[in-house]
Amino acid sequence: MVFCDEQPKAGHGLGIVSMPEMLRYSCVLAIHTLWLAARLRGIGVGWVSILEPGVIRALLDVPADWSLIALLCFGYPQDPSQTPELERRGWQAREPVTNRVFDR
Ligand SMILES: Cc1cc2nc3c(=O)[nH]c(=O)nc-3n(C[C@H](O)[C@H](O)[C@H](O)COP(=O)(O)O)c2cc1C
Repeated sequence: MVFCDEQPKAGHGLGIVSMPEMLRYSCVLAIHTLWLAARLRGIGVGWVSILEPGVIRALLDVPADWSLIALLCFGYPQDPSQTPELERRGWQAREPVTNRVFDR
């Protein structure tokens, strides 16, 4: 589980003065880095977001000012593939990168 401490002592509030959501974005960036490091080692990662945050919070008894960011599953894939599972199962096809990245 990844939680975000919404009242961190480190940093003296610098960086979240005008945009407090930066705290959560920083957590997501850390997840991204962890994800890349795992994949480099052949470890698969799954992010589970269809869950009830309140139930998870109660189960783990986390401090009140920690917000739930992610439940991550790590493991060695039984069926490694270069094609994401969501694409293989027909949920959504891959888009050309030019649909999302613009050079103007
Ligand atoms: C923010 C985020 C939330 C996700 N939530 C779920 C989820 O609730 N259930 C699920 O099956 N996959 C979810 N996924 C997708 C998987 O985590 C991920 O794509 C997959 O496990 C990795 O396998 P793949 O490389 O075959 O796609 C989510 C991905 C992201 C980035």
